[in-house]
Amino acid sequence: MNDKAAAAALYNDTVVRQFSLMAVVWGVVGMLVGVVIAAQLAWPELNFGIPWLSYGRLRPLHTNAVIFAFGGCALFGTSYYVVQRTCHVRLFADKLASFTFWGWQAVIVAAAISLPMGYTTSKEYAELEWPIDILITIVWVSYAIVFFGTIGIRKVRHIYVANWFYGAFILAIAILHVVNSAEVPAGWMKSYSAYAGVQDAMIQWWYGHNAVGFFLTAGFLGMMYYFIPKQAERPVYSYRLSIVHFWALIFTYMWAGPHHLHYTALPDWTQSVGMVFSLILLAPSWGGMINGVMTLSGAWYKLRDDPVLRFLIVSLSFYGMSTFEGPMMSIKTVNALSHYTDWTIGHVHSGALGWVGLITMGSLYYLIPRLYGQKKMYSVPAIELHFWIATIGIVLYIAAMWIAGVMQGLMWRAVNADGTLTYTFVESVKATYPFYVIRVIGGLLYLSGMLVMSWNTWMTVSRGRSVRVPVAIPATA
Ligand code: HEM
Ligand code: HEM
Repeated sequence: MNDKAAAAALYNDTVVRQFSLMAVVWGVVGMLVGVVIAAQLAWPELNFGIPWLSYGRLRPLHTNAVIFAFGGCALFGTSYYVVQRTCHVRLFADKLASFTFWGWQAVIVAAAISLPMGYTTSKEYAELEWPIDILITIVWVSYAIVFFGTIGIRKVRHIYVANWFYGAFILAIAILHVVNSAEVPAGWMKSYSAYAGVQDAMIQWWYGHNAVGFFLTAGFLGMMYYFIPKQAERPVYSYRLSIVHFWALIFTYMWAGPHHLHYTALPDWTQSVGMVFSLILLAPSWGGMINGVMTLSGAWYKLRDDPVLRFLIVSLSFYGMSTFEGPMMSIKTVNALSHYTDWTIGHVHSGALGWVGLITMGSLYYLIPRLYGQKKMYSVPAIELHFWIATIGIVLYIAAMWIAGVMQGLMWRAVNADGTLTYTFVESVKATYPFYVIRVIGGLLYLSGMLVMSWNTWMTVSRGRSVRVPVAIPATA
């Protein structure tokens, strides 16, 4: 067997290891910045009068770091692992796969430098300036070639459902990024959007909502469909439901963006379309959640002593919660209260910390020992500890934001008998203060959990070795 044939007989886990470890590193960084901005909201003196430490610059740094660096690395890593295992073939184009790793890290570093310096397009979740946008496009096209190339050379006829979700995530993000980032450069780090006025807002929130639907949801559902059955050692509850789930979810998400623009200059009918599709979205979201949770039927007892499974299953309960809350918030009359308040922030973080964070951590706890030739993580009690402090942290964070949000909404709309406002704005800010402090505590707990995970990862990796796993021969071959 020549060298090339010998390599093809092994899975390419190098790139999976790289992405998995960087997901842990960026998780710590992104959450640390989250804690800093949470503290700045409670104690504004922490801006220190230094522009690049100011809230306005650190906030997009936080969102970009947690979504694209932490979430992105986890999605690249797990999708490369899952597509190889389910297609029974080594990753297509090793060099290109390696390029996606280094290219993506370059994007992250460019973001970490340019955002604190104040360079931004001002479009939420798409703040990076045009040269970085071009790099993102090149890396993403390479990612698509590696992923779909691997599907193309698969040794099994069937394409497992997790790959459908990862595939939809890759395609949708490519389209969203290219369309929303269309801009006219006006210097090396300055550009103007190709769209104007309400069209610009609609394109932005078509992007923004589908960034939630495809980056923060579809890709992580790919994780769910692979890692839950694996960890539970049970087949997916209903494969038929998983297919219905897939098509219903991706069709519906695309139309829901206008719920971010209620009561704006956007035509009223468009807002109503957004609301209706958001309400419909409850069904496929819950269908998927039920499919994941029910995969455990007959094996519920495993939740008692398997903390990794607990991460994976509890993430689904947060997914169910945030996809119930989202459709409710999209109802125009509810949104009239929730919009601009911390209720939105509570909703975001029940999805982000509860769903995205926990499913990622569970999947990484499954992957890391296997990638380093170990049966399990160095310390299982540390996983247990991580689970509890993260869960308590989430509950503190989101409960504080819900209470603060509803309170703000009610205070802003309260009027006296003579029609004047009952409260000044600053009174609502003062009333929010204790909840901001509780959020800092919740965030600190969540971050501490991530630090425990980093230590556990370090101990596991340093005791293990990078294993070379032979490609499995398909049963039907
Ligand atoms: C230690 C954990 C975290 C803390 C303390 C934290 C804190 C914060 C704070 C203070 C804000 C700004 C809120 C505002 O403008 O009023 C924010 C925004 C945001 N965070 Fe986090 N965060 C954490 C983790 C995460 C994670 C893991 C994700 C995603 C996976 C995430 C996604 C977001 C998003 C999308 C926003 C923008 C929300 C919006 O514009 O409505 N955060 N976070
Ligand atoms: C059925 C599913 C969902 C629906 C219908 C939905 C709906 C909504 C609505 C109505 C808002 C408030 C818009 C506003 O007033 O500005 C919102 C905000 C948001 N949601 Fe969801 N949501 C869903 C699931 C999720 C999940 C699972 C996540 C996270 C993983 C998430 C992340 C966000 C983010 C980041 C924002 C804030 C966007 C911003 O203003 O920056 N959503 N969502």
